[in-house]
Amino acid sequence: MGDWVHVPVMLEEVMSHLLNDREGTYWDGTFGRGGHSMALLSQLMGLGKLVASDRDPLAQAAAEPLLENPQFSFEPCDFANMVAKIPYQLNGFLLDLGVSTPQLRDATRGFSFQEDGPLDMRMDPTQGMSAAELIDATSERELADIIYQYGEERLSRRIAKAIKENRPVTRTAQLADICRMAYPRRHHRIHPATRTFQALRIAVNRELDQLADVIPRAAAKLKPGGRGVIISFHSLEDRIVKRAYKALVAAGGFRLITKKPLIPSEEEAQRNPAARSAKMRVIEREES
Ligand SMILES: C[S@@+](CC[C@H](N)C(=O)[O-])C[C@H]1O[C@@H](n2cnc3c(N)ncnc32)[C@H](O)[C@@H]1O
Repeated sequence: MGDWVHVPVMLEEVMSHLLNDREGTYWDGTFGRGGHSMALLSQLMGLGKLVASDRDPLAQAAAEPLLENPQFSFEPCDFANMVAKIPYQLNGFLLDLGVSTPQLRDATRGFSFQEDGPLDMRMDPTQGMSAAELIDATSERELADIIYQYGEERLSRRIAKAIKENRPVTRTAQLADICRMAYPRRHHRIHPATRTFQALRIAVNRELDQLADVIPRAAAKLKPGGRGVIISFHSLEDRIVKRAYKALVAAGGFRLITKKPLIPSEEEAQRNPAARSAKMRVIEREES
């Protein structure tokens, strides 16, 4: 395991949109390595509280030193299930989606096509099927559908066929090679495995279902004036956030703070390439 750091994305924007009462109660549903949580905690006073959660066991380990602070608590849990466990009305919640840099760079987790490791990709390695098991358990057609829908990969059928022909596929480097071979030989803007890895990660972790499930339930926990901040990293996620926020506004009682998503500044995108595709959307519960 390496000691890669995770640089929190759009930190200033998160703080200025999320923090509305320094004695309020907040939920960070994607603690990661705690970048956003620590910034928020440093601003809380007196009765202020931060409940954090994440489904990655290494996030739990990273949260441990903060537990000395009585204003902070941590629960190892996916965010769709966590929301029901929060007994408070919230001044704000934050979901900073996707994977953290340490998850991505740790070859043993199987998220990266740039490092060889077991083809796992589970954020919580104790739950559900690994990517290798998923590949094994799905038909070629289902696999092609996953790669097409979650990766928006137009060569999905060809890639799914090549994966099935090369079974068992158990290593990330093996899958990356299969994708590369399935692509026509020409200059690629992105690595030919990018979309397939994204698709498998989304399927393994049921990322889109989790997101669609949590938004209305987390929003229902907001106090009047409370804010929901979500940062997404690809168009499938952003579409879900946009539609869910729109539905909340249409149903009444919420207003959109961001008509268009906020994106990182030029300076941040230069400094932290992982932030480049970030889109942040904010909703607020109206005062009654
Ligand atoms: C981009 S990182 C968050 C980084 C964090 N904001 C920081 O500053 O360190 C995303 C985190 O969300 C977690 N995660 C993603 N989907 C999740 C879900 N459905 N439930 C719980 N945690 C999830 C991942 O395990 C990962 O640690």
